[in-house]
Amino acid sequence: MSNLDSSRGNWSSKVGFIVAAAGSAIGLGNIWRFPYVAGENGGAAFVLIYIVFVILIGLPVMIAELSIGRNTRKNPVGAFKKLFPKSYWKVVGGIGVLTGIGILSFYAVIAGWTLQYAVKSITSPGYINYTEEQGAELWQNFFSDRENKISVITDNNLSKDSTEAMTDEKIDIILNQFSGTDEFKSYKEKKMGQLHTDKIFNDFVSNPFLPIIYLFIFIGLTSAVVMGGVSAGIERWSKILMPVLFLLLIILAIRSVTLDGASKGLEFYLKPDFSKIKLETFARALGQAFFSLSLGMGTMITYGSYISKRDNLVTSASSVVFFDTLIAILAGLVMFPALFAMGMDPAGGSGLVFVVLPSIFAKMPGGIFFGAGIFLLLSIAALTSTISLLEVPVAYLVDDKGWSRKKATILMGLAAFLVGIPAAVSFGANDWLTKIPILKVGFLDFMNAFFGNYSLSIGSLLIAIFVGYKWGVKAVQREVEQEGNIFKLKLIWAFLIRFICPIAVVIILGYIIVTQKYF
Ligand code: TRP
Repeated sequence: MSNLDSSRGNWSSKVGFIVAAAGSAIGLGNIWRFPYVAGENGGAAFVLIYIVFVILIGLPVMIAELSIGRNTRKNPVGAFKKLFPKSYWKVVGGIGVLTGIGILSFYAVIAGWTLQYAVKSITSPGYINYTEEQGAELWQNFFSDRENKISVITDNNLSKDSTEAMTDEKIDIILNQFSGTDEFKSYKEKKMGQLHTDKIFNDFVSNPFLPIIYLFIFIGLTSAVVMGGVSAGIERWSKILMPVLFLLLIILAIRSVTLDGASKGLEFYLKPDFSKIKLETFARALGQAFFSLSLGMGTMITYGSYISKRDNLVTSASSVVFFDTLIAILAGLVMFPALFAMGMDPAGGSGLVFVVLPSIFAKMPGGIFFGAGIFLLLSIAALTSTISLLEVPVAYLVDDKGWSRKKATILMGLAAFLVGIPAAVSFGANDWLTKIPILKVGFLDFMNAFFGNYSLSIGSLLIAIFVGYKWGVKAVQREVEQEGNIFKLKLIWAFLIRFICPIAVVIILGYIIVTQKYF
């Protein structure tokens, strides 16, 4: 324990904080959300915009949040109250508390999927392979549909004519010619693999019970750790397991990049094609930056409240941002080469990792071993993130409302579970929630956009305004420059937090509201 007077507990060292904060930041946001959002938004050009936002907007907001937290030693609501007791700024903290529950509710659903894949890899390791009969059946189902037949023609460039108006006879003639070739054989094999991993995924997520059970388990695990208190629970887990996750990702990236046909994926992921950028791409990249760095709802205020005055907030924040971005980029390097090698669609949506990863394992010696490992580690990475989501409302109720930690944890965990149930059945189990009328998205996707993009963007905007114009950039500079620490780029930071962050967020949100391209 370092020089803290309060009994709230704190990180055991600077490294302890970095590990815990990186544990919060690194999670499904990097490995599940980043690749599929990048895939939906054109690949490399999105990645570039994302990185720019992380550096120019994410890092400054993180420094702001950590300063507020360390200065006040409070949860987000208490922090604003302490600095300006009679103002409405505490509402920003209140939005953060609600957002924590909102994100936790759907995040834990995806974490539950991850856990279920880990369990499946251990209990029925054969799941990534299919028997000849299964393959034949999948192919037959696929090939009996006109749309699918047309996709075979376009996938393989079999005809120069427009396929729209093609007669069924013509389609069959073209495909008959194709079916004798070697290309057809390898295409069919790829397709069957893809249909198989799709089927496993869809069977699971559309099940009306299993995803709810795993949601419950995951929230239970999260609550158990949060009840145990901060540094004992969070730090210890992250310190050992994050490096292992990193190593496994590197191995998978190597396998993925060396698959036949991987180069197209590399090009998609690394060679920017700016014609693919639409204005809403900026909104997705901004939301993803806040989400991935755990910003905009006071997580970093809460985590900052446990940092020692001796630590340099700027270098700590920079390390967290660096590791978080590294893992996201690496996850893309695992996903895209494999995805293109298997002939899958990069804009496949939120199921992406769950269909791409198993198809990589199927092509690796000892693949199932890696499968179990990666899904287990991903579950743990998700756990260190859900902990930080639940910690915000719990810290608020404990500090400000005088609740016991146990009562706060149980009630908030229960709330997240209940709100998570509709998200858990929004992938086929319940038709209405799978495609909500008018919105035309599923409930989980809606929660993900509402809380995971917009609520965080608004939260970050308000935090930037608060620090830039109310509390003042000088206060942050003083907070950073304690015990001999120097804030080297403080003028640049002040410029970014006062002008670039608020203006960028307002323009981007304004555009989304005007065009109503919310999802
Ligand atoms: N950043 C985490 C991830 O990438 C998710 C997360 C944890 C989060 N705490 C948060 C997101 C607070 C926003 C705000 O998986």
